[in-house]
Amino acid sequence: MEIIHNPVTDAILDRRSIRSYTDEALTEDEVHTLLQCGLRAPSAHNRQTTRFAAVQDRKLLEKLRLEMTEAEEEPSRWLKAFHYGAPCVIFLFDRRGDRWSGINGAIAAENIHVAAQGLGLGSVLIGIIRDFMLSERGEAWKARFGIPEDYDFVLAVAVGHPDKPGRDLPRDQENIVYVKGEDEP
Ligand SMILES: Cc1cc2nc3c(=O)[nH]c(=O)nc-3n(C[C@H](O)[C@H](O)[C@H](O)COP(=O)(O)O)c2cc1C
Repeated sequence: MEIIHNPVTDAILDRRSIRSYTDEALTEDEVHTLLQCGLRAPSAHNRQTTRFAAVQDRKLLEKLRLEMTEAEEEPSRWLKAFHYGAPCVIFLFDRRGDRWSGINGAIAAENIHVAAQGLGLGSVLIGIIRDFMLSERGEAWKARFGIPEDYDFVLAVAVGHPDKPGRDLPRDQENIVYVKGEDEP
């Protein structure tokens, strides 16, 4: 069997998590495109439970990083790295109480992640900040981002221009099963 290549499958297959960025900011059109690709994501019953907060202020992102690491007695290196200095972080929140909350937001985050690849940018999903974002101090940041109280953090996506390529981590083909039909040997 052969993989069929086209711009969409190539963006999906070539995507890697990028953890090193240049100083170059994103253009307004790039940020707008990423947000529209997030908004275009499917959501159960088209309830569109996800809100997006795009932060491009480096000082604000650094302030958040410091506050998150100071909130932990022994912050992990993942938390300390937070957004890897990316010039833009898009935070996604899902409406609390919806049956598909979390799943809708994660799907929208992946749309942004793959769209970044299609635009020639790099990105990484950020889940490590979840506990902080769901804490009382995280609630204050949520309010600062203009997100209503009844929305909970799901994921963030850091986006920028890659400084180093991402590592090509192999995938376990044994995770795929072709289910045989009743009459197949
Ligand atoms: C739900 C979720 C949360 C993640 N959180 C982080 C994170 O906080 N920091 C990070 O560097 N990468 C994070 N990642 C990226 C994964 O580490 C990465 O996708 C995985 O190692 C596979 O590498 P690849 O994306 O380059 O194929 C997260 C991925 C997912 C799906």
